[in-house]
Amino acid sequence: MAKYLVEKSGPLRGEVEISGAKNSVLPILAATLLADGPCEIRDVPALRDVDVMCKLLRQLGCKVSEDFRKKIVTVEPPAALQNEAAEELAIRMRASILAMGPLLAKTGRAKFPLPGGCAIGARPVDLHCKGFEAMGATVELGDDYVEARARKLVGGKVYLDFPSVGATENIMMAAALADGISTIENAAEEPEIIDLANFLNKMGAKIKGAGTATIRIEGVPTLHGCGHTVIPDRIETGTFMLAAAITGGDVLIRNVIPDHVRAVIAKLLECGVSIEDTDEGMRVRGDVKPLVATNIKTMPYPGFPTDLQSPFMTLLAVAKGHSVVTETVFEDRFKHIGELNRMGAEIRINDRKASVEGGQPLHGAKVMATDLRAGAALVLAGFMAEGVTEVGAIHLVERGYEDFVEKLTALGGKIRRVEE
Ligand code: UD1
Repeated sequence: MAKYLVEKSGPLRGEVEISGAKNSVLPILAATLLADGPCEIRDVPALRDVDVMCKLLRQLGCKVSEDFRKKIVTVEPPAALQNEAAEELAIRMRASILAMGPLLAKTGRAKFPLPGGCAIGARPVDLHCKGFEAMGATVELGDDYVEARARKLVGGKVYLDFPSVGATENIMMAAALADGISTIENAAEEPEIIDLANFLNKMGAKIKGAGTATIRIEGVPTLHGCGHTVIPDRIETGTFMLAAAITGGDVLIRNVIPDHVRAVIAKLLECGVSIEDTDEGMRVRGDVKPLVATNIKTMPYPGFPTDLQSPFMTLLAVAKGHSVVTETVFEDRFKHIGELNRMGAEIRINDRKASVEGGQPLHGAKVMATDLRAGAALVLAGFMAEGVTEVGAIHLVERGYEDFVEKLTALGGKIRRVEE
C-alpha cells in the first residue's frame, strides 16, 4: 500500500498547469459508445478512474488506445456491443453507470452491477432509471444490479427531483438516439454537462439548453465519431487555489476557466485571499492578508462544489475565527473531520453542519484519505502541520488528481509518495 509523507512547507510558489477534467472525460468516454466511428478524446488526464473507464469500454467490445504522453484516448466501438458490464469494473467506480444510457440507446439493453448491493440500495440510481423509464424503457432493479430494456427508446419528459449530474448525463446520452424529443427539467447545470453536450452535438446530436435547468434533446438515428478536447478540471483548479491560499503562497494557475470556479473565488476573496485574472492564468496569493473565517454551503452548480468542501475545510481550520460548513449535496461527506481533528483541528459535526474553530495549531499524525477530495484536504493540512503527516489510502487520491505529488513538489510542497 502506498502513502504520502507530508511535512510542514513554506508558502507554495510558482506555476501549475491544470489537467483535463476527470468529471468531463468519464461521461465523454462513455458517450463514445454511441458513435458509429472512432472518437479521439484529447487532454485526457492519466487517472485511475480513466483507466477503469477504458477497461470497461474494452470489455464492452470497443477498441481503445491510450497515449497518456500525448494525453489522447481513441475509442472505436464495434458493430455489436456487449451490453452487460463486468462486475469487477462496475463496482470499482460509480461513474461506470454512465455507460448504461449509451448502451441502452445503442443496443436496446443494458445490465450493470450496483456497487455495494442493498446497503446503498436503489437510491443512487433512481433518477437515472426514472429518465430511462420516461423514454419507454423497462427497468428492473435487483439487490445488486440494474437492468434496462427498450426495443427503441422514444422521446420523453423527465423532471429530476434533485439535479443529479450523473442522471442528467445518462439521460442526455440515451435521449440523443431516441425517437423524438426529450426534455430534462431541473437538470444539473455543471460545466461538465455542457462539455458532454458539446461533444454529443459534434457527433451529430441535437441538444439545446445544456448548462441551464431545462435540456431539450431531439433524437437522431445515428451519431458519428469525432474529436474533442475536454475542459480543464475545476476541482483540481480549486484545490491548487486552496493550496496557494492556505500556505500563504503565490501561485499562477494555468489552463483555467475562471467562470467555472466563481463560487470558490467569491469564498476565497471573503477569506482575504487575492485572486487576479491574467492573460497567463489565474494568480492566487495567500500572502497579502491573514486568512479569516467564512461560512460555506455546498450546492449544485453554480453553488459551492461539494468536491471542494473538504479541502476548503482545511483552510477554515487554519484561518482565525469560527465558521460553519453545510453539506447539502451528499448525506455523509464529513468523514475527513475525524482525521483533521487528529491533526489538532477543532471541528464539531451536527447533522449536516460542521462548526470549525479555526486557527488551532496543527500537528502531524497518521491519517487516512476517506475519499478522493478528503485525501487532498489532508495533504493541504500536512503542509501546515508541525512534524510529519502520513496520509494512507492514497489510491483514492490517485483516482482524481493527475501528477499530484509532482505538481505540489514543483511549487515547494514537501510531499513524498512511498510504498509501504
Ligand atoms: C458527480 C461527480 C462527483 C460530484 C457529484 C456532485 C462525476 C463522475 N462525479 O457525481 O465528483 O461529487 O457529481 O457534484 O461527475 N442521487 C440520487 N439518485 C440518483 C442519483 C443521485 O438520489 O439517481 C443523489 C446522490 O445520492 C447525491 C446527489 O444526488 O446525494 C448528487 O449526486 P450526483 O449529482 O448524481 O453525483 P454523481 O453524478 O454521482
